[in-house]
Parts: sequence; C-alpha cells; structure tokens
Amino acid sequence: MTSEFLPGAGSITCEPSTRPQAVEAEALVVFMAEGGVGAGSAAEVDAATGGLLARLAAAGELTGRRYECVPLLAAPGIRAGQLVVVGLGRREDVTAGVLYRAAATAARHLSARPRGRVAFVADGSWSTKQVEQAVAGAAVGMVGQDLYRAERKRNRFGGTIWISAPVEAVDRGGVIADGVNLARRLVNMAPDDVYPQSFADECATIAGRTGLDIEIWDEHHLVRERCNGILAVGRGSSRPPRLVLLRYRGAGRTGQARAGGDAPPQLALVGKGVTFDSGGLSLKPSDGMLTMKCDMSGAAAVLAATATIATLKLPIDLVVGIGLVENMTGPAAYKLGDVITARSGTTIEVHNTDAEGRIVLADVLDVIRGEKPRRIVDLATLTGACVVALGQDVAGLFTNDQPCCDAVAAAAREVGEPVWQLPMFPDYDEQIKSEVADIKNVGDGRWGGAITAAKFLERFVGGIPWTHVDIAGPAFSEKSRPWTDGGATGSMVRPLVELARNGG
Ligand code: BES
Ligand code: MN
Ligand code: ZN
Repeated sequence: MTSEFLPGAGSITCEPSTRPQAVEAEALVVFMAEGGVGAGSAAEVDAATGGLLARLAAAGELTGRRYECVPLLAAPGIRAGQLVVVGLGRREDVTAGVLYRAAATAARHLSARPRGRVAFVADGSWSTKQVEQAVAGAAVGMVGQDLYRAERKRNRFGGTIWISAPVEAVDRGGVIADGVNLARRLVNMAPDDVYPQSFADECATIAGRTGLDIEIWDEHHLVRERCNGILAVGRGSSRPPRLVLLRYRGAGRTGQARAGGDAPPQLALVGKGVTFDSGGLSLKPSDGMLTMKCDMSGAAAVLAATATIATLKLPIDLVVGIGLVENMTGPAAYKLGDVITARSGTTIEVHNTDAEGRIVLADVLDVIRGEKPRRIVDLATLTGACVVALGQDVAGLFTNDQPCCDAVAAAAREVGEPVWQLPMFPDYDEQIKSEVADIKNVGDGRWGGAITAAKFLERFVGGIPWTHVDIAGPAFSEKSRPWTDGGATGSMVRPLVELARNGG
C-alpha cells in the first residue's frame, strides 16, 4: 500500500524540451490566468490548437478563474487525448501556493478514472519554487482517503510528465509530494491500524529509507526517563505509549560547538501523536470522537517533513521528538484529580482527561529541551478552541520568541498555508495555576482555550525560542475541496520543509 520515499515509485518524469502539442499522453494540463491566454505556455498551446483557447475565453466558456477546470476532448492540433485547462485567478496574484492547489485540482479531476500518462505544462515565468509546488500539488491531488475501498475514488496516474520545467525542481516537487502524502496516509489510516507501536514502526521504516537515526522508547524506557505525563495518558489503553526520537545531520557541523560531541541541532520539531483521542474518562461525545484518528497529525507532519528534508539533503541539523499514546478509558485510566509529576519535575493536576495532548507534549518538550536546540517548533491538534477562533483552514501560532514565530509564518506564506498568531500575554498564566499542584491541565472555563493550552506548553521549553502550531482545524477536513479529497490534508509539511530550507 505504501510508496512514499521509495526511489522511482512516483514515476514523475521531465521532458524539458518536448513541445506540449507533441507529447504522447492521455491528458495534457495547461494553466491559464484570468484575462485570456497571455504570453506563456497557455498561449503556446492556444496557437497549437489554432486559437481554440482564445475563442473559448472570448465566449466566456474559459475564464481562468481560480481552480476552474475545463476538459476539452480531442482538441485540434494536440496529440494528447484531452486538454485540461485549469484556472489560476488574477495573473498578479499567482503564487507557489496557488500553483500547488491548481495543479492538485487538475490532478484530482483526472484521477477520478484510471489514467495512463498525464502531462503538465509549466510556464517559463515560474520560479523554481513555483515549479516545485505545482509538481507537488499534482502528485498530492491524485491521492485520496480511499485506503480501504475496493473501488477506488482516486487513481494514481500511470506516469506524470512535466514539460518546460527544470528537472531538479521537478525532482524536488516529487519528494515534497511524498512527504505530504505520507502524512496524509498515516492520518487517514484507521486508528486500529495506527497505534503507538505501529506508528513507531512506520517511523523506523521511513528512517531506514531516508537515512535518519532513530530511537524508540518503550514503556519501560519511559519509566526510567520519568516520562510520567506520557505514561499517565497512556494508562487507559491496552496499547502502551512510545516516544520516538529522530535525528538528521545535514549541516556537516559535527563536533564544532561542544568539545567531544555533536553540535546541538539548529532546529527541533515536536509532534503530538495521540493515535486516538476518546477523551479518556472525560469522554468525548460520539460526534466529536469520530474524527479523532486525526489526533496524531502533528506527529505525522513532523515525521513526513523530516523524511522530506533528509531526502532533499538540506544543510541543517534536526532533532525530532514524537509522543505516541492512545487516550482511552481502560481500568487503569488516569483520573480527574490525579497529580502527575512531569519529567521536568513540574506537577500537573488533571482537571480534564481530554486535555491530554499538552500532558504528553510536556514530557516530549522536556526531552527535546535537553538536546539544546536553537529553536523548537511543535505541531499539535491541540484544541477545539483554536478552531473556534480561526476556523477550519487556519493554523494558530503561539510563541515565546517573535523571530522564531516570524520564521514559521514566513515559511507557511511561501507555500500558501494560512497561519495566524495569537497572543501570549502573561495574564493568561494565572488561568493554569492549581490549588494543589504547580499547574492544572485546563484554563478557568473555556474562554481563550487555545492560548491557555499554549501557556501550559511554554512551561516546558525552558526558555528556548519556541513556536507552537495548533493544527486542530487544518489537519483534517470533513469535506472535499476542488484540490483535495476530504480527510487528512498534510497540513504544515510543506511549511516545515521551507523552514528548514531557510535555515530553521
Ligand atoms: N484532540 C483534541 C483537540 C481537537 C479538537 C483536535 C477538534 C481536532 C479537532 C484535544 O485533545 C482536546 O480534546 N482538547 C480539548 C481541551 C479541553 C478539554 C480543555 C478541547 O479542545 O475541547
Ligand atoms: Mn483530547
Ligand atoms: Zn487530543
């Protein structure tokens, strides 16, 4: 079932000098902005068809509006069986993010049926980053959430060909797509198939394929390491918890900063890996529980981004911590009123077992703090409150260090994923004080719940520059969009790759 990061599995090839009209393929995809065929590859295809696109545009049948997808069968002058024209919106607003979605829209449209070769025509005016993101979008759009269906809803192309695109950018785009599709597959899989040990096994497989160092801490190792937060949350499940550490050294800086050891990593990534969140004894209602297989989306995103970064051989040193638990209601489940001594020594009074992610992350962040990274970025489907604040498509950012947060926001902007920063005023700290322990795991009431959760995490980063990304909204989409099937989105994989490329 898996194919990500297997050399050659995606079969994306590049024909930089073939003319679009001459390519032998089942379909030829060309991109068109508003206001007619313009001067680039859409104009070239238009000329080959004897002005068909311009006539359709003049007749108002082809508008170039964003993500409009118009299939033209047996277009004259074109060797491919059909021509698909996909809209980009206003020419001056075309970004790498728009191209990702436009290419994904065309690919998703075509993938409704099994296809042989499908060709995409890049435009000479695109930057290499824009080509990369378009290539990635095309390879993500043809993959859906139909993992367990006999009759597939989406069908991967027999082969994808990119025309008028530099081969290095096409290769990189394919690797980025592997990352996004890996994260999506892990989230879309059933929670009975993805549990802490099986997720750790996936990490080991991916680490093997991409050359990452890996450590897997089992429940005995977690006891030795005093990871009482992870252990407490995991106690209600028959599936014991795990902590995965991944290391990637791409900067070639061994031994510079610390005598006799490796230089500390430039960037640490941390992921929430609650493989299923029933809420524990503070049980979720059935409606809210249905999609809770998505509660390991942060873990999937950091694993996938790290594999992508390693495959691209980006010059950076990374350490990654993933906390894996299943939050269940078994006889040993942790209880309301319990007091947990986290690995850092901070005591946590449990007011709600459904606020489990922050307790898991407390220990993972403490382990990562010990690695002395320059910056920490954590990803978590942490709070419903963040979805109330920002909606389903926007990730929340929270930080103790503005330049760190700005770097995450800039990386997200470069690939077109919306993020928005929320405040971390010191007054919010009052809300997580407890009468019996150092802190409690919820705020006073539900107001500002995304921020009080972030404030809780801040207690465990030891002053290291840190940004928390709450992806409870964008990680999982109940409905389909033109560019993606419903289910897992692969949210934040592309921004993390960009962040690493920018040096962290
Ligand atoms: N995993 C949930 C948050 C979530 C909600 C993710 C919706 C994706 C979609 C988290 O563990 C949780 O249950 N949070 C509680 C916290 C509350 C009990 C303080 C919430 O948001 O209701
Ligand atoms: Mn929960
Ligand atoms: Zn959760």
